Amino acid sequence: MASNLFRKKTVAGLLEEMAGENRLRRVLGPVHLTSLGVGAVIGTGIFVLTGAAAHDKAGPALMLSFIVAGVACIFAALCYAEFASMVPVAGSAYTYAYATLGELFAWIIGWDLILEYAVSAGTVAVGASGYFRDLLSMFGISLPTALAGAPFDYDPAIGKFVATGSFMDLPAVVITAFVTVILVVGIKESASFNTAMVILKVAIVLFVIGVGVFYINPANWKPFAPFGFTGISFFGKTVFGQEDAGAQPLGMLAGSAIIFFSYIGFDSVSTHSEEARRPQRDVPFAIITSLVICTVLYIAVSAVLTGMVPSNKLDINAPVSNAFKQVGLGWAQLLISFGALAGITSVVLVTMLSQARIFLAMARDGLLPRGFFGAIHEKFRTPWKATILTGVFVSFVTAFLPLRILAQLVNIGTLLAFVIVCAAVLIMRKTNPEANRPFRVPMVPLLPILGILICLLLMFSLPAENWLRLGIWLVLGFAIYFGYGRKHSLMSPGRAREAAVHASPGEEPVTVTAGSKMRPR
Ligand code: ALA
Repeated sequence: MASNLFRKKTVAGLLEEMAGENRLRRVLGPVHLTSLGVGAVIGTGIFVLTGAAAHDKAGPALMLSFIVAGVACIFAALCYAEFASMVPVAGSAYTYAYATLGELFAWIIGWDLILEYAVSAGTVAVGASGYFRDLLSMFGISLPTALAGAPFDYDPAIGKFVATGSFMDLPAVVITAFVTVILVVGIKESASFNTAMVILKVAIVLFVIGVGVFYINPANWKPFAPFGFTGISFFGKTVFGQEDAGAQPLGMLAGSAIIFFSYIGFDSVSTHSEEARRPQRDVPFAIITSLVICTVLYIAVSAVLTGMVPSNKLDINAPVSNAFKQVGLGWAQLLISFGALAGITSVVLVTMLSQARIFLAMARDGLLPRGFFGAIHEKFRTPWKATILTGVFVSFVTAFLPLRILAQLVNIGTLLAFVIVCAAVLIMRKTNPEANRPFRVPMVPLLPILGILICLLLMFSLPAENWLRLGIWLVLGFAIYFGYGRKHSLMSPGRAREAAVHASPGEEPVTVTAGSKMRPR
């Protein structure tokens, strides 16, 4: 029984699976893939969270916070790139874990990726809703309070949940529904829509940097780190640096733990390996290129914003557009708000796209019901049922839960995924030293180990209740795995033929040989 829990897929088996029929369309080239990466990354983090991070936690040292979080991500990105080049299939970290650590860990990471993708999409939609309301207000329109936000929020000043007077965040739900429809219609349409959005938002970010740089007053960068250069807590207890009134850590590193959210998404490129024309070359390229582009832009934007306006005067809700207003460039506010809305919406699109593909990979393996999660639309060739379910789940999350709770949950879930992927690279180098790796992480084991350590440091810097929430989420996942997945897994003896015989139209029949290598018919 214990060995069943750790049954593994082989690299050869994964590559065989990929060669089968009934796969997703291979239409994405390096530009589309990089644009999907940038599309997933630049959003609520830079357009919304930057203000609070500079204002409350780091001051102008936010530039360094972005560098620290970027370094943590580059180690993880290199590890994702190695895996993506070795096993270019749809499941990303979930599949990598299946090949290295076994089925139970694969399930844990797949379940954890729901936190990263679906909950993140909900979080980002809340950010989009904020800019949408901001835009409406510029035209003198305001939504009724009941439809403008989550019904409750956490108040750190008193340490309790309080009612907001709202019922739901309607704009966030409408944005999610719009994105769901685009995703069902097709990957090519989604990628093209995303490319247009990405061009727009990168143009806005370049505008912010290019125009904002002329409004920098170097005096605003002093003091550079008003709360210090540390700010680390361990299970809610600050071990290095100052604390705020609510005993939360302050300082440059505390800023990193928050703005880490800004980088989430580059790894989602690896979920599109199956749709890439040349996955082994283009996916690693796109993962690393999109992360490097975003890191450079983020450092520049944080330098410009903290140089334009004193950090303690940065707006918390719409810091970028508001900074331009504060220096007398009110006309830029509309432009920036529109670009932010488009940009954030493209993050919702890419993260939901990735979520449906993770479900698809898990369903193909039998860990989730194949008839539903594995169904590919006959005309659109997209995993339509999984996409619609994702849309419904994201709508619920985004309608009723507050941004603060959601963002922290996403950060801890993503950091856990990064830790597992870095560890999996180390394991795979030992267990499969001969596997073909078109891209290799340099300086192994040093870089993956550094990746693990920095991600753990950032995880521990998050408020303690996130560990509890992560624990509850994982327990729920275990219940589903032991109640369903373990028995229905195609790796469990006897399941494969049954699955092949009962496959319904639109579902992918799979047969398994005696050696448990999976082969689509
Ligand atoms: N990195 C994404 C954002 O900032 C999740 O919105």
